[in-house]
Amino acid sequence: MRKNIVAGNWKMNLDKEEAISLVKQLLLEINVNALTQIILAPSYIYISDILGLCMNSQHVSVASQDCSVRDKGAFTGEVAASMLKSIDVEYVIVGHSERRAYFDEDNQLLKKKVIKALSNDLKVIFCCGESLEQRNKQQHFDWIRSQLSESLFSIEELESKMSNIIIAYEPIWAIGTGVNATVEQAQEMHSFIRKLILEKYNSQTAENISIIYGGSCNANNASDLFAEKDIDGGLIGGASLSAASFLSIINSFE
Ligand code: 13P
Repeated sequence: MRKNIVAGNWKMNLDKEEAISLVKQLLLEINVNALTQIILAPSYIYISDILGLCMNSQHVSVASQDCSVRDKGAFTGEVAASMLKSIDVEYVIVGHSERRAYFDEDNQLLKKKVIKALSNDLKVIFCCGESLEQRNKQQHFDWIRSQLSESLFSIEELESKMSNIIIAYEPIWAIGTGVNATVEQAQEMHSFIRKLILEKYNSQTAENISIIYGGSCNANNASDLFAEKDIDGGLIGGASLSAASFLSIINSFE
């Protein structure tokens, strides 16, 4: 059965005290059913603290915002997927457009990161999304197809691991801009992505995978977006940094 997911990507925000206080407030107030999973993606340096706080929560899991493509060794500043697994991190975000744009991560590298994460028993939140220019030129469907085929669908062993993948559709023009994709634009792309999965794998895999929306998703638009049949939740940036707005998004499922 497909899960509803609300994931908070904190990016490079919140100091330790703010992070802990936010999680404590969320844990007091989150009240969701068994089909809903909340995921928090703090900075690496607070992951252990946040994991400790969430240890007894059935509904709240922790994600890393990235992982290294390497196994171990002399790679200063990098964090290996095996290290994340060793402290019981459950998810890793791979392919965020900020990593693609500011850290030159391309589809080939992201494919290797997905393999590294999955082989260390981490679940992957795989991000894809087009620029405004691509959308204006009507290239957005082709672009998303190439992002998914080059990074995900070309992994041979992926078919058996699709239950460990969440896809996040995050149009770049909607991230941090206050301009979200309309419900129609988001639903259209989510349905397209589900169709690609159906074509590549099978109807059960396509039905079961959670496809979440990111890009200026907030307390005002979440319920309309989440009501669409192919939108299974959100990957939330700015609005995940305050308990009130994040809780309101979590409570947006019908
Ligand atoms: P905003 O919600 O701030 O637009 O960010 C979305 C995002 O990039 C989540 O990964």
